[in-house]
Amino acid sequence: MTASPRRYHITTFGCQMNKADSERMAGILEEMGFQWSEDPNDADLILYNTCTIRDSAEHKVYSYLGRQAERKRQQPELTLVVAGCVAQQEGEALLRRVPELDLVMGPQHANRLRDLLEQVFDGSQLVATEPVHIIEDITKPRRESKVTAWVNVIYGCNERCTYCVVPSVRGVEQSRTPEAIRAEMEELGRQGYKEVTLLGQNIDAYGRDLPGVTPEGRHRHTLTDLLYYVSDVEGIERIRFATSHPRYFTERLIRACAELPKVCEYFHIPFQSGDNDILKAMARGYTQEKYRRIIDTIRSYMPDASISGDAIVGFPGETEEQFEKTLQIVGDIGFDLVNTAAYSPRPNTPAALWENQVSEEVKADRLQRLNHLVSIKAAERSQRYLGRIEEVLVEDQNPKDRTQVMGRTRGNRLTFFPGDIKELRGRVVPVKITEVRAFSLTGKLAEVAVRV
Ligand code: SAH
Ligand code: SF4
Ligand code: F3S
Repeated sequence: MTASPRRYHITTFGCQMNKADSERMAGILEEMGFQWSEDPNDADLILYNTCTIRDSAEHKVYSYLGRQAERKRQQPELTLVVAGCVAQQEGEALLRRVPELDLVMGPQHANRLRDLLEQVFDGSQLVATEPVHIIEDITKPRRESKVTAWVNVIYGCNERCTYCVVPSVRGVEQSRTPEAIRAEMEELGRQGYKEVTLLGQNIDAYGRDLPGVTPEGRHRHTLTDLLYYVSDVEGIERIRFATSHPRYFTERLIRACAELPKVCEYFHIPFQSGDNDILKAMARGYTQEKYRRIIDTIRSYMPDASISGDAIVGFPGETEEQFEKTLQIVGDIGFDLVNTAAYSPRPNTPAALWENQVSEEVKADRLQRLNHLVSIKAAERSQRYLGRIEEVLVEDQNPKDRTQVMGRTRGNRLTFFPGDIKELRGRVVPVKITEVRAFSLTGKLAEVAVRV
């Protein structure tokens, strides 16, 4: 044991779930007496929280790991941890590939970090990837932001989209109780947080695994019920949720979003493809017509709602004509943002084994065409903000211009304006939008009072 405090560094890859897990693991490390080190090369413990959604994400991890494994050969007291989805997918194989690792732990084990590390410090090399019931989190996360926070509501995913690795690495759905979620939000409200994003890979599945049905035969605890239940938490001014699945998205949920003032008019609903045969091959469980109806219903309740989605190009068997249907839906809907990706075959997924794979050249070409359309459409959507006064929740300084602060509109558009962060952080202020770009806005503080 050294006298000076041990230092840790966490590098996080992947989605919001991983970011939330990293914040909880950082909280555990700090409770164990570790201090954050900005530079990984000064840290005594390095944790990679990994992602395997696409091949490129997985490879990035190996290149980072290679460098630290090298360092560990010079500095044997360094502790190396791989957590997250690559850890879950590879398990023991990761230890064989990188024998310098001390701990390989799947995402379900994040809250057990202390227990696992104690065994490591006792001399064990460990792999923790067996499925477990996720224990309620008792440690305070060390959160990146002082203004916005993630709150997990459901872990895992029971869908079987034929391209997706998530169910095999995140395990079966496990919902937290409404009481535990509300208690975490109340604590956040007391600490001065203003915005909460409720998280689940398929958040519409929330509550399916909790006991109780209503007299009408519905699950007692749905996402909609949860929104009503947490919508009055003191101090929390904005509530968002992600990710929505078109298969389970209900009008009841849309109504709740329209009714509840704190729930933002922002919907992230991946569509993946605009072609029904591809959607069927993906086992998504909806048609492109149903997707369009959902968006129409949202807009009938909330005409200005922001809509974002995810799409995959070059899924096995996708023809040029089928791809053009994806372009068409993007052209028609008017998305504020679409996350796009070329299909990447993943281990333990059905589509990876199909013979009708699309060539890399065709995928790259389609991706580039889709991205081009996505930015044109996003720029069009941004136009509606020009000259308007928007409520912006100020999160931070603009890292590229210290005279400016940045925050988000209710519709989740990043917005910059001149101002002093010390005075404005955590405040919802009216901003007159004077300049619009595809994915961000610039404005200036407006003089009118705003509802808080
Ligand atoms: N649970 C969410 C998304 C989870 S993964 C949903 O149901 O939509 C995030 C995004 O990564 C997906 O929406 C999909 O667009 C993309 N993705 C997942 N697997 C992929 C793969 N094998 N290749 C390319 N993109 C993929
Ligand atoms: Fe993956 Fe489908 Fe589950 Fe989303 S719903 S995480 S795409 S399996
Ligand atoms: Fe990646 Fe795992 Fe999230 S594979 S996208 S970090 S659930």
